[in-house]
Amino acid sequence: MGRTSKDKRDIFYRLAKEQGWRARSAFKLLQAEETFHLLGGLTRAVDLCAAPGSWSQVLAKHMYEPLPLEEREKVKIIAVDLQGMAPIEGVTQLRADISKESTAEAIIDFFGGEKAQIVVSDGAPDSTGMHDFDAYVQGELLLSALSISTFILEEGGSFVSKIYRADRTSRLYTHLKRFFKDVCVFKPSASRNSSIEAFVVARQFCLPEGYKPCNLITEWHEHPDSWVCRKKENPPVVHVPFVAYKGDLDSDRTYDLGEDYVYKEPVQQPLTAAYQDILKKTSQVNIKYEGIRVMHDEELFKEWYKAGVCLSSCDNNGYKNTTN
Ligand SMILES: C[S@@+](CC[C@H](N)C(=O)[O-])C[C@H]1O[C@@H](n2cnc3c(N)ncnc32)[C@H](O)[C@@H]1O
Repeated sequence: MGRTSKDKRDIFYRLAKEQGWRARSAFKLLQAEETFHLLGGLTRAVDLCAAPGSWSQVLAKHMYEPLPLEEREKVKIIAVDLQGMAPIEGVTQLRADISKESTAEAIIDFFGGEKAQIVVSDGAPDSTGMHDFDAYVQGELLLSALSISTFILEEGGSFVSKIYRADRTSRLYTHLKRFFKDVCVFKPSASRNSSIEAFVVARQFCLPEGYKPCNLITEWHEHPDSWVCRKKENPPVVHVPFVAYKGDLDSDRTYDLGEDYVYKEPVQQPLTAAYQDILKKTSQVNIKYEGIRVMHDEELFKEWYKAGVCLSSCDNNGYKNTTN
């Protein structure tokens, strides 16, 4: 296959290179912006799971670039990722894990004690190809993004995050509804129909009265009785509002290249190769047949283990074992 074949098969990949975006995912946030008008006039934004940086480019394009030079310094955009990324004008980078409370503190420091007006997160784990597992881990990333937002988002703020439409979608939606008055699932046309990927768009953030921000993934450890003793009832039916972006371009279609087509290299190669970590990890373990350990917060679990909390689901390394 020649190097132009991806340009034919993926119109958004081709357009991203032509328009200067680092990744085709830029169009997903651009289409969300076109539909919901979230960014106009904002000065404080957080891009979680940001590398290689196309969503940060979109934030800078809407919040930083339209301002006259002398006013640009009042705009604060912070991009957080485990991996490094090439610099973007108007965007500050923080190399950190979004599931850590220390990351929330660093973000609030960056805003000089103020909170963000919007948090966006395109978080996805390195894909293992086992769809249920990938969807589970993606759901955990969404919960991490939501957890950190309970610390760093100001009242009335917005939250946009990738979500995989899978078993847990309605439970994740229910979590979001605890904190936002308006929540829907959005499918941009830049996201393939064949993909379970979609995005939640949540607006009008409001912490419930008396609620103390915490890690939602481990929140239930604080109230184990309410979970363990819960009666087995039929779960209520949850209707999740769904909005689709209807554009002219179809990401599942192949397009002719046209006579004036000129091949372009990607705008910015990622600094770290995709799947590098997962390939290293899976080379040492057969994840299909061996139990998979999900480590939420090593430090916290070690503390709990020492304190005798929840011993049945932690081994002595402080891990929660999903095979228990
Ligand atoms: C699909 S990419 C994001 C693409 C990006 N929005 C863009 O437009 O260029 C997903 C990113 O999530 C990051 N990620 C995954 N887990 C993370 C975590 N716990 N903390 C921070 N970043 C994480 C990965 O390093 C990866 O760069």
